[in-house]
Amino acid sequence: MRGARVVAAGLGALSVLAGCPADAPSALDPAGAGAHRIEGLWWLLFWVSVVVFLEVAALLAWALVFRRGERTRIRHGQPLRFVTIAGAGLPFVILVAVYGVGLRDLAALSADPGPDGPTVEVTGHKWWWEVRYEGVSGATANEIHIPVGERVRVRLRAADVLHSFWVPQLMPKTDLIAGEMRETWLLANRAGSYRGQCAEYCGLQHAHMALMVIAEPRRDFDAWVARLGAPARAPQSEAERRGQQAFLQGTCAACHAVRGTSAQGRVGPDLSDMGARWSIGAGAVPNDAGHLGGWIANPQTVKPGNAMPPQPVDAAQLPDLIAYLRSLK
Ligand code: CUA
Repeated sequence: MRGARVVAAGLGALSVLAGCPADAPSALDPAGAGAHRIEGLWWLLFWVSVVVFLEVAALLAWALVFRRGERTRIRHGQPLRFVTIAGAGLPFVILVAVYGVGLRDLAALSADPGPDGPTVEVTGHKWWWEVRYEGVSGATANEIHIPVGERVRVRLRAADVLHSFWVPQLMPKTDLIAGEMRETWLLANRAGSYRGQCAEYCGLQHAHMALMVIAEPRRDFDAWVARLGAPARAPQSEAERRGQQAFLQGTCAACHAVRGTSAQGRVGPDLSDMGARWSIGAGAVPNDAGHLGGWIANPQTVKPGNAMPPQPVDAAQLPDLIAYLRSLK
């Protein structure tokens, strides 16, 4: 166990050297049944390769040290038997065993999650995730809430190009293919936030196509889903009211929806809970007033290539728009 920890620490150090942020989600830190299987497979392959490497290194050393003796033995035909066993027989046994374990895990991972639990419908867009729940009218983006300890069915569609849905701590990758519906499931054993990422190169902002899976107790999840089906929070302050007016009368409403208002655009993400989201632009920048203002004024400087053009917003209107969007939670 101590050895495994030393190896894991070494791998961690390597990933830091390779430029991975320290809080990057790791498939070796699983929080659900799906990722546990991948972790088991990972360690099995790791230890098999360690044993094979050590065996080859030992044989190489042995050959170097005793090569004079081996030359005489070749005449007797013994090494041929050795080559057959160590060079063909042993790899065959190892590969068949690993293949068997792989098939077992593949079957377990593609098993139907069953009729219980909610169904999430996720659509991959360039470059964000549209998230809906079966039987719920509202939508959100780049954020999936799930109840802890329950298998959640995830239906995956691509709106444009290939994407891949990957939440390393919960589940391995599932590709999204335009014109096809794919399925996977999510199960988290402990409450927490699990970062996911598009894992199929899909263009300029592929790196900024992240999502967050939030696993929470069932009652919190129920409350969250209930909010998703209800009208968005109405403006409370003067600034929020002015912001809402600017939002509905300006260009925003052409592409974005806010539940309970006349804004019903479907081009960009539904903004009904914008103020509660973990990020702006699917992981591009933190969700705070400063970044939101920068995004509204010119999203192309924040996430070049995304579908939203720079907005001709009056400088006086910008604080109101920010206040309104941040109040939506
Ligand atoms: Cu979507 Cu990469």
